[in-house]
Amino acid sequence: MSGFFADPDGGACRTDHPDRPCAIVIFGATGDLTARKVLPALHTLHSNGKLSAPFFIVGASRSKLNNEDFRQRMRSALEEHGSSPLDNWEEFARRLHYRRVLFDDPETFRSLADTIDQLDKTHGTQGNKMLYCAVPPTAYENIARNAGMAGLARQEGGFSRIVVEKPFGRDLGTAQQLDATLMEHFSEEQIYRIDHYLAKETVQNVLMLRFANAMFEPLWNRQYIESVHITAAESLGVEHRAGYYDRTGVLRDMFQNHMMQLLSLCAMEPPSLYHAERIRDEKTKVYRALKPFPTDNLGEHLTLGQYTSGMVDGRHVPSYVDEPGVAPDSDTPTFAAMKIFIDNWRWQGVPFHMVSGKRMAAKRTEIEVRFKEVPCSMFRNILGEHITANRLILGIQPQECVTLTFQAKLPGAGMCLRNVTMNFDYNEGYAGPTLDAYEKVVLDVLLGDHTLFWRQDGVDLCWGFLTPVLMECDCPERKSLLRLYKAGTDGPDPIRCNG
Ligand code: BG6
Repeated sequence: MSGFFADPDGGACRTDHPDRPCAIVIFGATGDLTARKVLPALHTLHSNGKLSAPFFIVGASRSKLNNEDFRQRMRSALEEHGSSPLDNWEEFARRLHYRRVLFDDPETFRSLADTIDQLDKTHGTQGNKMLYCAVPPTAYENIARNAGMAGLARQEGGFSRIVVEKPFGRDLGTAQQLDATLMEHFSEEQIYRIDHYLAKETVQNVLMLRFANAMFEPLWNRQYIESVHITAAESLGVEHRAGYYDRTGVLRDMFQNHMMQLLSLCAMEPPSLYHAERIRDEKTKVYRALKPFPTDNLGEHLTLGQYTSGMVDGRHVPSYVDEPGVAPDSDTPTFAAMKIFIDNWRWQGVPFHMVSGKRMAAKRTEIEVRFKEVPCSMFRNILGEHITANRLILGIQPQECVTLTFQAKLPGAGMCLRNVTMNFDYNEGYAGPTLDAYEKVVLDVLLGDHTLFWRQDGVDLCWGFLTPVLMECDCPERKSLLRLYKAGTDGPDPIRCNG
């Protein structure tokens, strides 16, 4: 069902509810991602009436469980991580089923397919299927291949959609290999590559701000913009994910995906229509225009860091190399600052400074646009040549806001300027429900809306850009690039590639 209405304050709204019946298969059903994110999202959507059409869920994992064991586990998961009351539990639990599946065993997939066929008849899901891979990425290829061979990718009766989450490979070669395996049985239109940053409300708001207002776009180019600063700072360390993180590092973990998405939303041309493929086309053009990274001059454009012990949120935290599961001589970067240029008419010469790190002073994700100074100051005779330039900050988290900084007169007899800010709090004046990133992802997969998902050409182009950098960083003579920074600070000192 889809509705369109204009609100009295001059806004307009499209509301979508998938009325598609669907069988939802969760691979990795006994894992952390299912317990923390996927199942709570499904339960909340069900509780809010957003999954109104028939559906059932089959948990598929290696553990030997029966339906009842699985339901109990899922109830505990919801008690711990869910956000909706459990008074509808009995009704929800009836839709939960479990099948033991070994990801490298085709036979178990065939029996899973039989189970889905039977349940499809009793629940009336009309042959539609969502295959959600809540598993480590190393399992994607086996799942895609065996699911395909068991007929689960076929779309004769209804749709079949497969959901995978980043990382998509470790470099260009492995990303293409993963894609080739997915494509053995699924077409691009059936594949949903999640980047949870795109499902954040304020990330989506970047498009609205840029393209639903006439006043920003004329200034959004090299003529008026000095530089763009994209920051995703975290105060958290590697938590319980050292095994994954120590092999991955910040460039693969944050830059290849989330940071690149923020960059493209900020830099893309206006698509002619709000339509998934047209939006993804424009993003792809940004990735295609990335100026190849000067690997012979890495130090000028890239700073890598790793945290040492320090104080974060008032408590002492250990060095990265002392985190459980991290190799004591690890040189994995937990911080990176990169200066990137985009070779096109709009952005020629404008640096995009991208910074992301763990164990920094505070959690802060934002896009800051620094405008140029006025071309000629008429106040130069009384206030000097320079007037602080305007800044626009799009706060993504934890402060969801838009802030514009500009100059105004300081009240009083003198002629003095002061920096003032206009602040829009994203949630101001809105008390209604919001969707968590995973709820949004599930709804969009059911709707068949690819807007918030990666398309493979974008994945390839971003890896194509980053892979030479990673190869350089990985070679022994480049290890000296890594600088240590104290946990709870803004990263290595002096502050990275400015200007
Ligand atoms: C994940 C990374 O994709 O994003 C994590 O693997 C990181 O290392 C996380 O902590 C950050 O997401 P958010 O939504 O907390 O900014």
